[in-house]
Amino acid sequence: MKIDVLTLFPNMFEGFLNESIIKRACKNNNVTINIHNIRDYSLDKHKKVDDYGFGGGAGMVLMPDPIFRAVDDLKKDDSFIILLTPQGIQYNQSLAYDLTRKKHIILICGHYEGFDERIRTLVDMEISIGDYVLTGGEIPSMVVIDSVVRLIDGVINKESHEKDSFNDNLLDYPVYTHPKEYRGMKVPDVLLSGHHANILKWRREQQLKRTKERRPDLLEKS
Ligand code: ADE
Repeated sequence: MKIDVLTLFPNMFEGFLNESIIKRACKNNNVTINIHNIRDYSLDKHKKVDDYGFGGGAGMVLMPDPIFRAVDDLKKDDSFIILLTPQGIQYNQSLAYDLTRKKHIILICGHYEGFDERIRTLVDMEISIGDYVLTGGEIPSMVVIDSVVRLIDGVINKESHEKDSFNDNLLDYPVYTHPKEYRGMKVPDVLLSGHHANILKWRREQQLKRTKERRPDLLEKS
């Protein structure tokens, strides 16, 4: 998979791409991620990318030309173009799985007060990561990249994401490690029993209990 990101703040991605699982996935060629500065696509002599909005109102609006030119440059027949915006469809795990099937994703990060409405005509999907407004699409696009890349075959072991929260619309079961007792809190006996079938049964019960207590809305979906 290849991912191209269009942003006005490429430095925001540095730590994210150079640590842990995402770094390893890039190094092992499970994914190729390129960060592009929208400003590099501006033809203006001062590399201007935004202007005041027609009709008045506070703040600057991202102009269409740098984004159209960047997409012209990067888009191939199999590209899937996503705009990060609070007006998009709400992101979830099932959408993350759908995106793992794409060969090439272009993520467009909006910033400032907004972007020229004509930019919307370029995209296949608009994604919001939740009902709150961030200063730009950079963090949302990292959320999308992180959640998709960990699902790509070979990035983490399959068993670890097959039991993730939200698969089957259920939250994950509780896990424990050493010591067997800590400050009076004991690891449940069943996990120390070595009885595989009982462990599976207990985990399933815990998933149902947790989901019922914390996210009854998910149970309605399943
Ligand atoms: N840009 C600003 N806020 C956002 C959000 N919640 N989701 C996606 N993009 C955004």
